[in-house]
Amino acid sequence: MDILHVSAECYPVAKAGGLGDVVGALPKYMNALGHTARVVMPMYRTKFLYTNDWDVVHKGNTNMGNWWFEFTVIKEKTDKLGFELYLVDVNGLLDREKVYGYDDDTERFTAFQICVLDWLNSWSQHPDIIHVHDHQSGLIPFMVKHCLRYRGLAHIKTVLTIHNAQYQGWMPWARSILIPQWDMWKWGMLDWNNTINPLASAIKCADKVTTVSPSYLDELKYMSNGLEALFEYEKGKCVGILNGIDDKHWDPQVDEYLEHHYSVSDLEAGKAKNKMLLCDQFNLDFDKPLIGFIGRLVGEKGADLLPQVISDSFYFIGRRMNFLVLGSGFPEVEAGLAALKPLSQYDYNVFVGYNEGLSHTMYAGLDFLLMPSRVEPCGLNQMYSMRYGTVPMVRRTGGLKDTVVDFGEVNGYGICYDQASIPDITHAVWRAAGLYHDKEKMNLIRKHMMTLDFSWETSVRHYIDVYESL
Ligand code: ADP
Ligand code: GLC
Repeated sequence: MDILHVSAECYPVAKAGGLGDVVGALPKYMNALGHTARVVMPMYRTKFLYTNDWDVVHKGNTNMGNWWFEFTVIKEKTDKLGFELYLVDVNGLLDREKVYGYDDDTERFTAFQICVLDWLNSWSQHPDIIHVHDHQSGLIPFMVKHCLRYRGLAHIKTVLTIHNAQYQGWMPWARSILIPQWDMWKWGMLDWNNTINPLASAIKCADKVTTVSPSYLDELKYMSNGLEALFEYEKGKCVGILNGIDDKHWDPQVDEYLEHHYSVSDLEAGKAKNKMLLCDQFNLDFDKPLIGFIGRLVGEKGADLLPQVISDSFYFIGRRMNFLVLGSGFPEVEAGLAALKPLSQYDYNVFVGYNEGLSHTMYAGLDFLLMPSRVEPCGLNQMYSMRYGTVPMVRRTGGLKDTVVDFGEVNGYGICYDQASIPDITHAVWRAAGLYHDKEKMNLIRKHMMTLDFSWETSVRHYIDVYESL
């Protein structure tokens, strides 16, 4: 089958979170099964753009409302990522440094989707499937079916994967002029609660909808930021497929970011060396368990609870553990975490920002990874941490529930709790501090986790089944 993935992110070209990791890996594993999967994304000003060679494959003129513009599609010359990678360049609109966060994001991603479909119009042989990811490419299923100028693409099947339903790309009806001329009778396919809602539109118009874990799909029916009734109504075409991880890239034996490599056979020594690096860099006490957090400092991730959890843990459990936080996000959470720094007694530190290299060293050097998420569609961090022998401490929700079994259960290996609340998380910290000193158990758990299979090989077959069903 011939599949075109349309996404705002793709690692290592541009990544803001897990969406990038998934789109950077999934197509490679589809190709390994003998299919042809390609990726098209906006051309941002990233290091990858400037350090690779490109061919121009298409030049076009198009319009978005009454704004006419030129666009170019370029292709990475060597397919070094394991798939054909295409970037859409719209001068001044897409070629920015960051992926998201601009006032004109609505125009940026609408223009991107128009360019992708205009470009597809020029192909002599169309893909069998257009696979869109999240709301940034969510207008495509509608446009393919209902825009007059894309009539020639209407036979192509579309699949939507929802990585995060919190963000839906809402735009007021006044912006409907941005969408190329469409069949006005179909306005209901764009609308949700009197606004244009690209994610809702994609759920209505795509031939199949997938979520990135089975539990997340169940949760969306009662907690999806306003789309609950829609998920209930469309449940027949929805399926939950657990993400995999790229275990060739995320492998402590060969990880290019690690100074000290290790495997199951020398994990204790290997992890200790990486922990030592972190303790030196961040002024932490090597003898205490090291509990870390990596991620966006936003409410979904429960990051706002961290400052209180850390101070309560020190107060109620004692200064028996270290905390190290890596992330950026809400200024008030960043400030709350920074405010704790002067109180550290060689047992707390925070790095505010995005740092891919440090995240890898943390997966390797931490003893525990804390994920108190309120919402977690899948979560990759817990799978990375397990691959590196680091015990995840997760709230039972979404993909966390589907991937982590509490060490108190048969064959369990993680620390699980039910509420994203300060007492529940602090209790998990207390359990972690206890487990750390049971060296034998800790090592058994680490070994067990490192041999678990979270690879894409299994998950990718479920996607192929979805395509084949169409
Ligand atoms: P989400 O996509 O919701 O942010 P995921 O768990 O799916 O959550 O994926 C997060 C990805 O982003 C992981 O690869 C994680 O290591 C990475 N990441 C998040 N924040 C940072 C950061 N501040 N520095 C480096 N990597 C980060
Ligand atoms: C989203 C979700 C995260 C998931 C990732 C990749 O960003 O928040 O849970 O792992 O997408 O699918």
